Amino acid sequence: MKIIIAKDYNDMSRKAANYLSAQIIMKSNAVIGLATGETPIGTYNQLVDWYEKGDIDFSEARTVNLDEYKGLPAEHEQSYRYFMNKYLFDRINIKKENTHLPNGMAIDDDAECERYENVIKSVGGIDMQLLGIGLNGHIGFNEPGESFEKTTHCVELTQSTIDANSRLFHEGEKVPEKAFSMGIKSIMQSKRILLIANGEKKAQIVKDAFFGPVTPKIPASILQLHNNLTVIVDKDAAKYL
Ligand code: GLP
Repeated sequence: MKIIIAKDYNDMSRKAANYLSAQIIMKSNAVIGLATGETPIGTYNQLVDWYEKGDIDFSEARTVNLDEYKGLPAEHEQSYRYFMNKYLFDRINIKKENTHLPNGMAIDDDAECERYENVIKSVGGIDMQLLGIGLNGHIGFNEPGESFEKTTHCVELTQSTIDANSRLFHEGEKVPEKAFSMGIKSIMQSKRILLIANGEKKAQIVKDAFFGPVTPKIPASILQLHNNLTVIVDKDAAKYL
């Protein structure tokens, strides 16, 4: 595990964007695993900036996202498909057919999980997976539990996740209680993993996840066992390291 302590959010974002763009520069059709949430927005802005300057070409790149809310259509402003289009895909030259997310509107949960597993297989696995971390240590929507969920599954979100994510919804709008999420096995099978975290509110979980025991009660802790893990945190999130 390599831990990089960045000066601030912008520095963390620029460093993360450097890692991701290196993948695409080395291999034009690299498969990048992407994440949503507030943390990666700066990273996506940086990638867009380099694209606009002509420094990076996404025309062959492929992406698979970690998760999607169940019950939200792509056009819903809070869906992860909408988020990805808005912050990244609509602003770069990636082909939409090369961008993959679970389908939140799928009726048959099991069939959707199987379809998404096949998508991950069909692209040949993930070259680099970008991750954020939830306050309770979740990655994607792999919530704390008694065991690690291996493959794509439909999860009941914990109250802590629903509360944390409600800040991104309009007042009175209901936060979905379920989501489709890539499993721990798919994440762990990525060739490289890049986790980013910023802000003091993430300081405790960063310490617990990377310097505590490996346990499904803190899903991100399993990343300690990956042989190519880079964690980039800003000074505030590194407070207890
Ligand atoms: C959501 C996403 C995660 C993300 C987490 C943290 O629950 N499913 O992939 O890492 O939120 O979000 P934020 O970056 O906004 O703190």
